[in-house]
Amino acid sequence: MMKGIVLAGGTGSRLYPLTKITNKHLLPIHDKPMIYYPIQTLVDAGITDLMVVTGGRNSGDFLRLLANGKEFGLKHINYTYQEGEGGIADALALAEHFAEGSRICVILGDNIIEGSIAQAVRDFQQQERGAKILLKEVPDAERFGVAEIDGDRIRGIEEKPVNPKSKYAVTGIYMYDETVFDKTRTLTPSARGELEITDVNNAYIREGTMTFNYLEGWWTDAGTFDSLLRAANLVYETSQRRPIESAVAAEAKDGGVKERGVKRA
Ligand code: G1P
Repeated sequence: MMKGIVLAGGTGSRLYPLTKITNKHLLPIHDKPMIYYPIQTLVDAGITDLMVVTGGRNSGDFLRLLANGKEFGLKHINYTYQEGEGGIADALALAEHFAEGSRICVILGDNIIEGSIAQAVRDFQQQERGAKILLKEVPDAERFGVAEIDGDRIRGIEEKPVNPKSKYAVTGIYMYDETVFDKTRTLTPSARGELEITDVNNAYIREGTMTFNYLEGWWTDAGTFDSLLRAANLVYETSQRRPIESAVAAEAKDGGVKERGVKRA
């Protein structure tokens, strides 16, 4: 069974002063702390053996907030601590002892999605080896890792390119086989002084073992003021829409023909 790793370190400098006294991933997104969403995404895909990588001054708050994961139906959560600001791939490297040779699904603690990754997880389990990433078409690709696609092949990923080669952002949800930790060991810091997850992904691409799925539904990160607001709005709008959609679906199932195109206020 795959194990899940939620990356929730960093100083959240782009959200200062919101992050002066707390960790970014503990900030509210509508009615829940940010980190609830990526944890739920993994649990919904059947990944229940989880490790949270935290860091900074407020790491103890994660334990108080999440405890053993009862709210997610879990019996236990593993935690580890990232010293300093080494980047996503540095945080991931801390989970090697937890992975113990299993495949892993890594999710960034500020990545929130509308839909499910269950199908992608199943697809990856069928894959003999390598890695899988999830892509999403976005209007502002230059903010992200951007994939260059050639049919169903991925040619490479550029981290925050000035001139993106496609509209497809690499979302912060990654699936890796057990060789990922050999790859993180070969990395050197990028221009921003971090070990980049994009370099890990490019290593799989060079090896010819990287696959991708397109993510259904909306996706957002929440690491800037704009995306933090956007994330809250998307979660809120979806929560408002869901009860109406399921009422319409129930009616259709009952053979009801009343209102079909129910308009939202
Ligand atoms: C990171 C990754 C980037 C990815 C993004 C998704 O960016 O480096 O490739 O597209 O997460 O949220 P960061 O948020 O560290 O700038």
